[in-house]
Amino acid sequence: MVATPVLCVRRLSKTFPGQRALADVDLDVEPGEIRALVGQNGCGKSTLIKALAGFHEPDAGSEVTVAGKPLAFGDPTSADAAGLRFVHQDLGLVAALDAVDNLALGHGYETGRLGLIRWRRERARAREALQELGYEFEISRPVGGLAASERTAVAVARALSRHSTPPRVLVLDEPTANLPAAEADRLFALVRSVRDAGVAVIFVSHHLEEVFGLCDTVTVLRDGRLVTTRPTAGLTESDLVELMIGRRLAQYDVPPAETAHQGDVVLDVRGLATAVLGGLDLSVRAGEVVGFAGITGSGREELALALFGGRPRTGVVTIGDRTVPQLRPDLAVQYGMGLVPAERHANAAFLDADLQENVVVASPAAFARRGLLRRGRERSDVARWLERLNVRPSGTQRAMSTLSGGNQQKVVLARWLRRQPHVLVLDEPTQGVDVGAKAEIHALVDQAAADGAAVVVVSTDHDELARLCGRVLVLAGGRVVAELHHADLHADRITAAAVGHTLRSAS
Ligand SMILES: Nc1ncnc2c1ncn2[C@@H]1O[C@H](COP(=O)(O)OP(=O)(O)OP(=O)(O)O)[C@@H](O)[C@H]1O
Ligand SMILES: [Mg+2]
Repeated sequence: MVATPVLCVRRLSKTFPGQRALADVDLDVEPGEIRALVGQNGCGKSTLIKALAGFHEPDAGSEVTVAGKPLAFGDPTSADAAGLRFVHQDLGLVAALDAVDNLALGHGYETGRLGLIRWRRERARAREALQELGYEFEISRPVGGLAASERTAVAVARALSRHSTPPRVLVLDEPTANLPAAEADRLFALVRSVRDAGVAVIFVSHHLEEVFGLCDTVTVLRDGRLVTTRPTAGLTESDLVELMIGRRLAQYDVPPAETAHQGDVVLDVRGLATAVLGGLDLSVRAGEVVGFAGITGSGREELALALFGGRPRTGVVTIGDRTVPQLRPDLAVQYGMGLVPAERHANAAFLDADLQENVVVASPAAFARRGLLRRGRERSDVARWLERLNVRPSGTQRAMSTLSGGNQQKVVLARWLRRQPHVLVLDEPTQGVDVGAKAEIHALVDQAAADGAAVVVVSTDHDELARLCGRVLVLAGGRVVAELHHADLHADRITAAAVGHTLRSAS
């Protein structure tokens, strides 16, 4: 028996000025199906989703029906009324508002007889919705101050919260890019229960194990076109990679040669403490790559910014022989530290500026003096870096806002790799980056270390830590609870150490 699709997409096309992002895409999704949507950075996943959500007006000739009814384009309200619910790649939360207000942005506030907002009810409901996702945090804090995974939870809770119409299709655009494994598992449990209630789910991820673990079927896009839709059963990871990039990816993740040369201690940290971190000591040598893992709340999310001076801290952070005062990221940069932060939109990507400005913002002085000649030289240098990181579409004058999420991430990486910092702090460096580009970025991190940088990598992607690092420190409750080396540097071991400790201390 073939079920009737709840979502039918026909000939969906979207042309941006000078670029066709989607071309004639057809898609049918059935109720109770979990469909993965995959493809390389810039292949059109988010564009498709934004067209469904009413943010982008598709080209003429495109058609979408939901439960048999045509969807009006360019109108978020109709999408919502049709039962389409979204967790967007950038989450779409208002940073200055708290969780309760952000949830209300989805469904409006509940009012009593006099038209007054029932705050107590709203708060209780928000708390419940978040608890169902396994999160308990102070819901009256502006969401801008929450951890990335907590913000994801707010966006998911909002998509699933009571609306005027029941949900028919839940669309999640890379919801796990910032989630540690245990939290991603909770999200999956919730997605499955939504599916069991007969809702269709569209799930975007660059983590192929999630595609196989969660999804029934997978749709592959390449360069804005539909490649295929298949059941996940019977496909292998390398089949899927081949469908995504159009060729086999031979041994794309070769770890670096054992024990690269290590020099003097470049980064020295004594008693680093923040609201969560409870006195961390750390020495990183030139040429060394040290990883940090930990579940949300472990201190993992605070570490990179605290090292950089972007949030209040106590303790002593020394680069070479110079101590960096707290809250002086300018001095951290001057002394040779670079930071790729996890919060790309809040802390790193200048969306209105062009790619060149985004790359050189870390080092304006390097080229500032002689006007045009410099600007020309700078442009070709930036172009070279965009090329090295395979930023697509490239072009130094292109606005950052027109790049896909993964390509924006590559531009932020280019900014710091180009500067060749003494200390390179990377927080979720490959978030949202596709498998091919990830391998290239890992090779560039190896290269930065080989060139003498002391590298700190904070990541929820434990394969990434195992791939990049010479040792990995596992945080729990603001302290280092495990240090893994050599044979123990496997994703599963890292996960076990991060989760295991919490389980033990909770019992
Ligand atoms: N507002 C815009 N103006 C111009 N071009 C855009 C705009 N938004 C997206 N694009 C382009 O459309 C293409 C598809 O981008 P999209 O964001 O859909 O990719 P994606 O598949 O979601 O990639 P990622 O995995 O990196 O998130 C890209 O080439 C991108 O540069
Ligand atoms: Mg995207």
